Amino acid sequence: MAILPRLGRRPEAPPAESPDIPGVLKRGGNGEGPSGFDKEALKKGAAEVPISVAGWLEERLGQTPALKHTLFRRVPGHDWTYTLGFAVLIAFMSQAVTGVFLAMYYDPSPTQAYASAAFITNELFLGEFVRGMHRWGSTVMIVLIFLHMAQTFFYGAYKYPREMNWLIGVILVTLTLAMGLTGYLLPFDQRSFWATIVAVNLNGTGPIIGPYLGDFLRGGADFNAITISRFYAIHMLLIPGLMIALIGAHLYLVTKLGTTAPPWVKARKRRELAKEEI
Ligand code: HEM
Repeated sequence: MAILPRLGRRPEAPPAESPDIPGVLKRGGNGEGPSGFDKEALKKGAAEVPISVAGWLEERLGQTPALKHTLFRRVPGHDWTYTLGFAVLIAFMSQAVTGVFLAMYYDPSPTQAYASAAFITNELFLGEFVRGMHRWGSTVMIVLIFLHMAQTFFYGAYKYPREMNWLIGVILVTLTLAMGLTGYLLPFDQRSFWATIVAVNLNGTGPIIGPYLGDFLRGGADFNAITISRFYAIHMLLIPGLMIALIGAHLYLVTKLGTTAPPWVKARKRRELAKEEI
């Protein structure tokens, strides 16, 4: 009787190095190609493991370069701090999705902004929930981005050859803070109005570009009727557009350069090399 693998499940096999990309894991199974199951393991009735998303995709799309570089890579195991970058990405995506729904009802005019925000919270189905997700999500994203920055700093991931990725990160953190500033005005209540006036005036005192930045943000020398629509355009079009482009470049460089090993692994390697030399 022929032994057939159960649908969607594949026997476990040790991962093999890809011959063409060093350090890149070959797909699961016996590594023979998209159609290959580990027949020997199946005959022995080996334990079945759930098929991975990466394996599922590869079986249908083949080994495209994009899949090879994103899904079949060696990554350091048993260290949750490496998940912080992805957590920031999820926070960003959550902000984008909730922001789109808020934009459907929000009106960025000085006379309607407060009323439309109040309408979202008090009248709209799930409005308070979505607005709360967006408001608290902004804080979560800022906390996560600083944790991610601290992790990459303490693991030395800013050093050669990843300096460019660190610089992109510095721009991303600045843009994230700018999202916080421009979003804070939008509810247009007393607190957001006066806090934004203070923040923009502070920006205006910066050296050289400060006064220009203040004028740009206000849309003139003083707060006026177009300030809120300007903040809205910056908040939902300009900065997110820049961030999407920079996150793309950031992730491209992560997949191209690989992940930095933890400092204690590097130290162990150095000790082992020193022993070999003796
Ligand atoms: C929207 C903001 C950001 C997103 C979505 C993001 C996402 C990611 C992801 C998914 C990774 C790979 C996994 C990991 O090592 O955690 C990563 C790595 C990295 N990120 Fe970010 N990041 C962001 C902001 C930043 C910031 C603010 C910095 C520092 C200033 C930074 C510096 C780095 C560096 C140097 C790496 C390489 C880590 C390594 O080689 O181990 N990132 N980022």
